[in-house]
Amino acid sequence: MDSFIAAMEGIVEDLYGHVHRVSSLASAVGRQMALDADDVDRLATVGALHDIGKIHIDPTILAKPGPLEALELTRLRRHPEIGFAMTVDLFDRQVAEAILFHHERFDGDGYPFGLRAEEIPLLARVVLVADAFDAITSHRSYQPALSVDHAIGEITGHAGTQFDPDVVEAFLTVIDQHAPVTALPSAFPVAAAAR
Ligand SMILES: [Fe+2]
Repeated sequence: MDSFIAAMEGIVEDLYGHVHRVSSLASAVGRQMALDADDVDRLATVGALHDIGKIHIDPTILAKPGPLEALELTRLRRHPEIGFAMTVDLFDRQVAEAILFHHERFDGDGYPFGLRAEEIPLLARVVLVADAFDAITSHRSYQPALSVDHAIGEITGHAGTQFDPDVVEAFLTVIDQHAPVTALPSAFPVAAAAR
């Protein structure tokens, strides 16, 4: 797994910080939801590897500031399927499937398949929230870092649409119980999530 993570160097901004934070938060939310130890371990793995497919996406698309053109977006949105193909023979099937479905939305408006609600594996629903929280609170080429409070507002506001409300509830408990994973000043009222 370390070599997979190393392969993302230069592809995912603040790679090791992002991997650590999403892994920690996803597994903490899993524990809060009383998932078994194997699933908590899987969440740590998926938290680290969900974007591994981006190593096969044009770096100029990944680094582009601002909105993407339609064709660029189509190309970027292949990364879950590429990540699935890269991991399915190496990890548990549940890990590979959570990578495949980590951009599906609870309301069916996600990608690549537009699955909705419980059609989306729970591990993928958990990673979506953890990834969104870290994307909002981290600096990215396409957006500045926003505050933890802003991220909590965004995620709560999209419970039941983008996010599984049960996962959001567990996420809020985790954030309440622990020191913030990251704390940055609020400045820009930009709606945000991971691409
Ligand atoms: Fe992703």
